[in-house]
Amino acid sequence: MVELVILISGGGSNMEAIIRAAQTEDWPGTLGARVAGVISNRPDAAGLQIARRMAIPTDVVDHRAWPDRSLYDKRLAECVEAHLTPGADSLVVLAGFMRLLGVDFVGRYEGRLINIHPSLLPAFPGLHTHRRALQAGVRLTGATVHRVDAGLDSGPILDQAVVPVLPGDTEATLAARVLSQEHLLYPRAIRALLASGHR
Ligand code: GRF
Repeated sequence: MVELVILISGGGSNMEAIIRAAQTEDWPGTLGARVAGVISNRPDAAGLQIARRMAIPTDVVDHRAWPDRSLYDKRLAECVEAHLTPGADSLVVLAGFMRLLGVDFVGRYEGRLINIHPSLLPAFPGLHTHRRALQAGVRLTGATVHRVDAGLDSGPILDQAVVPVLPGDTEATLAARVLSQEHLLYPRAIRALLASGHR
């Protein structure tokens, strides 16, 4: 069984899409995978309530309590491990997790750490992607699921979804259009990764 731990910081709509897919498509039976837990760096993340309602164990590792980044990452890894069955195969899924992870964390989960970013990487890594896409005048944008490496949104690409930029778009309308595609893309990318043997 591959055990998924999802890391969030906010609304958790991507997390919800993944949990819903896992539950409605019976991932334990069909893909040998289950969502083992959800961890937020913010105690007030709305996604925590959603996860609890969907019967997924939740935890908080508040970054404000761990000002030292490497100590934070260490505590976060301990929390991830606490949600996993010892020796189980695992996949750590960043879903709107707004903290940069250091080399130790990334190295520890190398090959089993993935992220979603709301642009067609390698375009517009980092923050304010939709604003920058609008400023650049691109006609197409989208979302990318990629493996996480030590760089910023720079790991190998696993899957992408293309979304048109429409006349009159604002950051908000574009973000909403992209997000609705993220909800299809992320479960699809995870499904493919699990079906391919995960690594
Ligand atoms: C998504 O657009 C994700 O790509 C970005 O932050 C947003 C998170 O949304 N990194 P949610 O918390 O999954 O609703």
